[in-house]
Amino acid sequence: MLFIGSICAIIASCFMYRNLRQMPCPIVIEQFLYEVKYTLLAAKEIIYAWISTKYNENDCLPQPGRIAIVTGGSRGIGVEVVKMLLELNMEVIIACRTPSAGEKAILQIRESGINSGQAKVYKLDNASLESVKQFATEIKKDYKQIHVLINNAGVMFGPYQETVDGFEQQWAVNYLSHFLLTSLLLPLLKAGGLPEQSSRIINITSCVQLLGKINFNDINEKNKFLTKRAYAQSKLAQEIFTKRLQDLLKKKQYYIQVYSVHPGVVFTELFIHSYIWKYKLLFQHLFKTPKQGAISIVYTAVNKAIENCGGLYINNCRPGQVNPDALNSSIQKTLFDISLQQVQLNDFFQYV
Ligand SMILES: NC(=O)c1ccc[n+]([C@@H]2O[C@H](COP(=O)([O-])OP(=O)(O)OC[C@H]3O[C@@H](n4cnc5c(N)ncnc54)[C@H](OP(=O)(O)O)[C@@H]3O)[C@@H](O)[C@H]2O)c1
Repeated sequence: MLFIGSICAIIASCFMYRNLRQMPCPIVIEQFLYEVKYTLLAAKEIIYAWISTKYNENDCLPQPGRIAIVTGGSRGIGVEVVKMLLELNMEVIIACRTPSAGEKAILQIRESGINSGQAKVYKLDNASLESVKQFATEIKKDYKQIHVLINNAGVMFGPYQETVDGFEQQWAVNYLSHFLLTSLLLPLLKAGGLPEQSSRIINITSCVQLLGKINFNDINEKNKFLTKRAYAQSKLAQEIFTKRLQDLLKKKQYYIQVYSVHPGVVFTELFIHSYIWKYKLLFQHLFKTPKQGAISIVYTAVNKAIENCGGLYINNCRPGQVNPDALNSSIQKTLFDISLQQVQLNDFFQYV
């Protein structure tokens, strides 16, 4: 493991050195350290996935009559999740920012021979809180209940960019939009939950939540922006949100469970801003395929084995290790309060 990690760290270092010579010194060092930490963590996860192959299986029962929403469901890991849920005979709503891409994905799924289940496409741009509200309104018009919400859409490592609402892109797309979406859809999730089978909210986090820290003083970090730190921060936020929401739902005695999932290190376009993308041929053989990445997500979304185990972080279909900050109730509360302010909600449960 150390050998593979070191090779990756050396490749990463060479790449970073070429790009970072003009940056002020402390940022260069911090960026370099993040690069090394990410690389070692990825190497560890790749090895863990190899030795966990036998657990990465999806022996889920068919789910006729159950409805799932998958954000970012038109490509990458998301579209493989959609495929698997359709194979389980579910009704699947693809929430994506380009509806024609979602329709094309459905066509390809049907052409591949999967005829079970139903699929629909709705527009959702996670970089706009207004779009999140419009999407939720459309869904509420057409559905009375939802059984599974998979918060999957994500971006990684782009340059500093703010959304229309003034939030750093990774924070908004990966975390904040899903925080708002979950609140808006709670009435439907509550309606879908039964004592014998709760509805489920699945936050697609990442193993890099382990490297994250929430910078409560300056979440955008515009003046000292490190894209890898911002990505880790957004993924930790999803993890903290999972734990906090599970506690709140338990107190309210709703039949809704919240889980988080690390899909594995999966070869997708998510890496387009990473050095990995330059060495595609090498890395695509080391990483999981999107289909393999989807297995843990579908397992978490529907498998009976984890019924009523909300709050779990799943990695390779087994519970994994979380950042201690995700378990810290004071950090949980602070993040929750700031998120409510950012999406301008008085109360997370105000729509229920
Ligand atoms: N790949 C990995 O190794 C890995 C590891 C850990 C966690 N994850 C997480 O897994 C999730 C899926 O990643 P992936 O690997 O499948 O990446 P991907 O192939 O790049 O797919 C990302 C998905 O998110 C959607 N998306 C991006 N920005 C959006 C926006 N503003 N509004 C709506 N949708 C948006 C994309 O839709 P468009 O087609 O419209 O861009 C696409 O469907 C992400 O949350 C990621 O952080 C991935």
